[in-house]
Amino acid sequence: MAANAKVAEASLKAGAAAKGLIYGAASQHKILSSNAEFARRFLEECAILVPENELKWEAVRPSPDRFDFTKGDWLAQFARKHGLLFRGTPLLWYQAIPDWFRETVNRQNAEQFLTNHIETVVKHYAGQIHSWDVVNEGIHLPDRQPDGLRKTPWLKFLGEDYIDLAFRVAAQADPQAILVYNDYDIDYDTREQEAKRKSVLKLLERLKAKKTPIHAIGLQAHLSAAETRFNPNKLRKFLGDVASMGLKVLVTEMDVADRGLPFDYTIRDRRVAQVYEEYLSVILDEPATIAVLTWGLSDRYTWLSQHRARADNAKVRPLPLDRDLKPKLAWHGIASAFESRSST
Ligand code: XIL
Repeated sequence: MAANAKVAEASLKAGAAAKGLIYGAASQHKILSSNAEFARRFLEECAILVPENELKWEAVRPSPDRFDFTKGDWLAQFARKHGLLFRGTPLLWYQAIPDWFRETVNRQNAEQFLTNHIETVVKHYAGQIHSWDVVNEGIHLPDRQPDGLRKTPWLKFLGEDYIDLAFRVAAQADPQAILVYNDYDIDYDTREQEAKRKSVLKLLERLKAKKTPIHAIGLQAHLSAAETRFNPNKLRKFLGDVASMGLKVLVTEMDVADRGLPFDYTIRDRRVAQVYEEYLSVILDEPATIAVLTWGLSDRYTWLSQHRARADNAKVRPLPLDRDLKPKLAWHGIASAFESRSST
């Protein structure tokens, strides 16, 4: 297969940079501060660091009136010290909400909480952030709300305008950051994902019509190697529609779950690599694409160990490096997709 055929650039970040792209990955304070070998490999492969959990409400808001940036600051400093770009994620998400939230935030103070949170967090890192996921996972059709919006406290208290408000506050607090709407399950050719793509496009259109300061879409791209309903043309069309609104495209959280594949890891690795290469080739065909980020770098540290565990209990292999930090076929699949990108 193509993924195996050629020796690509020396690192994923170099392969990406050669085509004007940024490659990087999510990681955690706990991991980077305790595993020097991993930190070294991270710096070899990545040009941007994404804090996996450290900037979520749960992490930075121990109480309604206190912010704790200790771990986020450690990561920001790690990035700065080693010349990495740094990402922010997420400002608004329905998950990782602290316990105090539900009994504290109400219709009367919701706007104040939203504004204060975004202002404080974005200003804290202003000038250091490549891009912020301002609203994460804002569409969820099963919630049966108008326009497919997810039923969150923000929607309940402030209506759809909470999205516009969030972007405006973020833009004011850091005029340099690329502001992103980020979502998942917009990759495959299924009825649900086609409908979700449509809702996302409509949301982006409404925001553009209101002159909301939104600059990009983030495709999480949590893919599944056992899923075969991939239709390059539908994804291409979607990306073209996004780009025609003047928006950039980032792949923000890519991984390829190997649940449902056979135990034999040579078979698994081949299929996972193929999915990386197939998907990214389509994404990178779109000139509006600026970055590819994986949700973790090594199979040693991946949320999928819990969230997409295999029925046979074998260790999952969804990322570019194996548990010993050696490149797998997935690494070559990504490198090969970078290499085939036509534009520079
Ligand atoms: C995940 C982290 O990887 C886990 O460590 C944590 O326990 C739960 O959240 N979509 C997102 C990410 O936007 O923030 C999620 O990260 C994965 C799904």
